[in-house]
Amino acid sequence: MSRRAVLPPGSTIGILGGGQLGRMTALAAANLGYRCHIYAPDAHAPAFDVSASHTQAPYEDQAALRDFASQVDVATYEFENVPVACVEFLAPLVPVHPGADLLRTAQHRGREKAFFQRIGVPVAPFALADSEAALTAAAQQVGLPAIVKTTTEGYDGKGQARVNAGTDLAALWAALGRRELIVEAVIDFVAEASVIAVRAADGTVRCFPIGRNVHRNGILHTTTVPGGFDPALLRQAEEIGRRAAEAVDLIGVLCVELFITRDGRVLANEMAPRPHNSGHWTQDGCVTSQFEQLVRAISGLPLGLVDLRVRQVVMTNLIGAEADQWQAIAGEANAKLHLYGKREARPGRKMGHVNRLTL
Ligand SMILES: Nc1ncnc2c1ncn2[C@@H]1O[C@H](COP(=O)(O)OP(=O)(O)OP(=O)(O)O)[C@@H](O)[C@H]1O
Ligand SMILES: [Mg+2]
Repeated sequence: MSRRAVLPPGSTIGILGGGQLGRMTALAAANLGYRCHIYAPDAHAPAFDVSASHTQAPYEDQAALRDFASQVDVATYEFENVPVACVEFLAPLVPVHPGADLLRTAQHRGREKAFFQRIGVPVAPFALADSEAALTAAAQQVGLPAIVKTTTEGYDGKGQARVNAGTDLAALWAALGRRELIVEAVIDFVAEASVIAVRAADGTVRCFPIGRNVHRNGILHTTTVPGGFDPALLRQAEEIGRRAAEAVDLIGVLCVELFITRDGRVLANEMAPRPHNSGHWTQDGCVTSQFEQLVRAISGLPLGLVDLRVRQVVMTNLIGAEADQWQAIAGEANAKLHLYGKREARPGRKMGHVNRLTL
């Protein structure tokens, strides 16, 4: 691999996407003396508030993208649905990490599963369907109960439905928008976890301690670290993170969501080539946060340590009106409050999170 120069302080990091992940990455970058330039189509992107500069333009605007590229020294993305074409357009103009190939894989649940299978990581039995008839066949092949998801663009449990013997598949095909679907067997998991791997330009890989994730209404509710998992499971999970990061020549952060089965197996669910909600605990519970690791990786700096520095940390998301509790949380002695500066607390919207520490 070619050795890149280290970006000196004062350099500018470009971030595609202006949500909370970009915001927290920009804060970490500022700590290391870097400036951030956010590129997002939104009018009031949370990351704009904490960054040196921003461009508000569609991801398809080539003039704006060219201008952006001329103003940044390296670029990354914080939003998984940035069009691959946008990253491909930028790549000859400025280094973009992680690259377009990983983004393309992570945007499609079928490609993602095929990737895991290729690197020897088990996944739920699945079948793809691009018609109503194919959906019926896929459900038969996978067996019921099953979970049907759109292959692209789902998040926080959106674009998914459970299917059992009584489900009207024709109605479901219409309800999910007559688009390509993936049918997955329902995994009887005893726990959910995620492994967050970081890989530097020199090939060093580190995996953060593995957290236990609890979802509520299809949205991550808490991540607890340590997760209380058996050491053998932790080794499997870490191996999955390392293998995935190495297979894609990652420069940056990659999260793999995992199911822990009753019989002690670790299956991959999906992956995200960016900092992940289940890694927000690292801001206060870890020597180096996932955001700082991303900044270090793409700037050519060595990675920081990933050691836990508290006895336990529990990250709790503040969804919608839950963020109204900000004052009480700010008054808790061992709580670290993080708010994203979003103007409107719509139901289901991630407004912030709190890391509760046991020292
Ligand atoms: N095959 C499966 N078997 C059992 N439960 C599942 C399966 N797939 C998804 N789930 C449950 O639904 C949750 C959301 O699924 P998934 O992560 O695939 O979708 P998502 O919309 O991308 O969610 P997020 O954005 O929160 O990661 C999982 O964390 C898990 O609790
Ligand atoms: Mg998920």
